[in-house]
Amino acid sequence: MRVLTIGGGGREHAAVEALYRSGAEVYAVMKNMNPGIIRRSKGYKIVEETNVGMVCAYAKEVGAELAYIGPEAPLEVGLSDSLREIGVLCAAPTKSAARIETSKLFMREFINEHNIAGNVDYASFDNPEDAKRYIDSVEHEVVVKPVGLTGGKGVKVQGEHLHSVHDTTRYIDEVFNTGIGGSGIIIEEKVSGEEFTQMAFCDGKHVEPMPLVQDHKRAYENDTGPNTGGMGSYSDSNHLLPFVEKSDRAAALNIIKNVVNAMNKDCCQYCGPIYGQFMLTPAGPKIIEFNARFGDPEAMNVLSILESDFVDICYRMATGTLTKAVEFGRRASVCKYVVPEGYGTKPISGSEIFVDEESIKRANAILYYANVNQDGRKLLTGTSRSLGIVGIADTIDKAEENCENALKFVRGDHIFVRHDIGRENLIQNHVEHLKKLCLGQNEKSSN
Ligand code: AMP
Ligand code: GLY
Repeated sequence: MRVLTIGGGGREHAAVEALYRSGAEVYAVMKNMNPGIIRRSKGYKIVEETNVGMVCAYAKEVGAELAYIGPEAPLEVGLSDSLREIGVLCAAPTKSAARIETSKLFMREFINEHNIAGNVDYASFDNPEDAKRYIDSVEHEVVVKPVGLTGGKGVKVQGEHLHSVHDTTRYIDEVFNTGIGGSGIIIEEKVSGEEFTQMAFCDGKHVEPMPLVQDHKRAYENDTGPNTGGMGSYSDSNHLLPFVEKSDRAAALNIIKNVVNAMNKDCCQYCGPIYGQFMLTPAGPKIIEFNARFGDPEAMNVLSILESDFVDICYRMATGTLTKAVEFGRRASVCKYVVPEGYGTKPISGSEIFVDEESIKRANAILYYANVNQDGRKLLTGTSRSLGIVGIADTIDKAEENCENALKFVRGDHIFVRHDIGRENLIQNHVEHLKKLCLGQNEKSSN
């Protein structure tokens, strides 16, 4: 089958590898020269992924039958609607269904209106004065979010990024003055717990879960620093996480199923991968965000151990026929992103990076190229994450070791890695943190 893929990041390279393994004839559209994607493609075009006219023209030119869309920006401008109009099947949601990600306000209101569990308190504002008055009126800590897309970098959390009311009001002004994430902000109650990602494949009705993954959005070790798109992630061989019980996972999956059912009944069918980011709290999983696509880096974890045929899954998502279970290997994975120095604040781009692919393979790890550019024989960093290394093994520990061994074969003067991801210490801190919160909750309720 001729499959058009859209996007040039690590998530898309992982998807292209899975499509290629399943026998697809891949044609790629991306804005950077990703050598991993190029190598697996029959043809490619370097173009803005949001340029709907150009992408559709390329789809026609190569006779694409099915499309896979990686990033959120093309979903927001309705690329999947336009591809469908020209007869290309799409394993991605329509512009309308993608609002579950592209508008944080739509998402919160939708969850409330349909009485779906897991919502947090929130209020939305179209001017800074009302937002500031609200901040003065609430007792609890808050999170400030631009309503629209910001590439994972617009959210600021009180107590972590905003250390006083003054910081908070200054950030509110900044969002309105710069207009990041479109217009308006949403202020949410800050919830405490441990975050996890539940992704699923969806064909409009059926929801097939993927293994759980924990992503690390903070730029620096020990989960400090600014929010990023995600610095790395891990998954376990039992498809749960060390701090997530089966029942918590079932509750999260139920929330996703309820969202898909409610969308189906009320507004629009949801087709494609769907992503729920949850905070596991003593009161169960709370919704942090939904994405209308695979997570990045999480896609690299799960697609690396996917055993079912990915072309078939995409075809079934696009045609409402996802009626059989999707199989994943019982393997653990640890993914660490190599990013340009300054990523999260002021990235240094255009610096050379050296990769020894054969040695990475020998270390039992997989290399996914991301926001890099092949420039002749040189590989140059862009402003976003450069490449992901995924260690695979029977345990998280061993997968982390494989990942670290492979990272030795990536060199560059201006690159950075969060080495703590997937390490026993950090994971144990997360487990203990949740235990402590649950103990505190029990004590409160028995008093
Ligand atoms: P988002 O882009 O909405 O996923 O937010 C980025 C990060 O901010 C999340 O991964 C969380 O760590 C944090 N965050 C977002 N919303 C909340 C919330 N309501 N309570 C606590 N932390 C949050
Ligand atoms: N890993 C977070 C995201 O893809 O938005």
